[in-house]
Amino acid sequence: MRRILFVDDDPLTLEMLRKMLSDMQKEWDIHFCDNGLDALRLLAESHFDVIVSDMRMPEMDGTELLTHTCEKYPDMVRIVLSAFSDHKAIMRTVRLAHQYVPKPCDAEILKTTIERVFALKSLLKNPKLRRLISRMDAFPGLPATYSRITTLLRDPETSIQAVGKVIAEDIGMTAKILQLVNSAFCGIPRRITVPEEAVVILGLDTIRALVLTIGLFSGFEESGIPLQMVEHIYRHSLKTGSLAKTIAIHEKMSGGQVEEAFMAGLLHDLGKLVMVQNMPKEYGELLDATLDKNIPINDAEMKIFGATHEQVGAYLIGLWGLPDSIVDAVAFHHCPGQCPTIAFDPLGAVHAADAMAHVNPQFGGDVHGNRLSMEYLERLGLTDHIDDWIDLALESAG
Ligand SMILES: [Fe+2]
Ligand SMILES: [Fe+2]
Repeated sequence: MRRILFVDDDPLTLEMLRKMLSDMQKEWDIHFCDNGLDALRLLAESHFDVIVSDMRMPEMDGTELLTHTCEKYPDMVRIVLSAFSDHKAIMRTVRLAHQYVPKPCDAEILKTTIERVFALKSLLKNPKLRRLISRMDAFPGLPATYSRITTLLRDPETSIQAVGKVIAEDIGMTAKILQLVNSAFCGIPRRITVPEEAVVILGLDTIRALVLTIGLFSGFEESGIPLQMVEHIYRHSLKTGSLAKTIAIHEKMSGGQVEEAFMAGLLHDLGKLVMVQNMPKEYGELLDATLDKNIPINDAEMKIFGATHEQVGAYLIGLWGLPDSIVDAVAFHHCPGQCPTIAFDPLGAVHAADAMAHVNPQFGGDVHGNRLSMEYLERLGLTDHIDDWIDLALESAG
């Protein structure tokens, strides 16, 4: 049974949560605490999967409680219950919380958030990797992009559009900004998938605080991490994103799906960056070996790490609460036929774009990329579209 701990010093909030979740008691083992110290005692006694904590509490506040939780129980999912107007409190937890649920609490939002988190566990079964990902608070970017963004933000005359443009080219910053904007941080009910829009919603002051004061982002350091490999993944991801968008437009997807296709393309190989960042030597050797022996990358990743880069990337962005369509596209971009929903959607566009990048080295040349799933395309009656997609890839490669 899944175990969840709610911590809030307000007895009325706890009572409301109890009533709200009474129908979930059969599936979830739910515990309530009115202070941080008792919460830590409970956590020391037995394992919990998720902690949902208030921010403002006497004695031990949410930041302190989540800091302890993150250090001692890194695999536990950390959700903050907070009023979206409480920006300062949220900024303090930007490195700690996986997701935010708005206060006053909506029963459906709370249940869906927790259910989605539980569903993710089946996506990534390796507990060691789950622990590792759960501790990740941000992603380093390319040193050049990082220095561009800091220069821009230090300039008092800078425009939000210019900042949005640079962020949209960076995988790590985009993922983090989308995490914040899709949470209770901004109190926006719809899902945001366009980084430029996310930057406008957050505002320059927040972005400045995240980058310059909190120092959430950094550049990949050359020491230990093969920068060339990182640059290759970035180049390939940007190309895949823009081609997925072109294919989505060509296939007459809706405006929202076109943007999702771009975003999912940009983030599709994020799992490789997680692995490069955390296990640079092992992952570098794996990439070399798959190249030398022409072994599919997923097979090698599964054998050595017990998980593929698709699973790792999808788990991270799912944990950060990015929209399901993007999580699915990342999770199934090598094997779209395994996705529970079979349709030519942003996942299909990313799958096709990624494969095009693979067949045409001119176009982002991802030697570790995937191949088109003919079975999936046959099921959707789309095999005669392949030539068009190759033409689009060639055109965009110039
Ligand atoms: Fe991939
Ligand atoms: Fe790829």
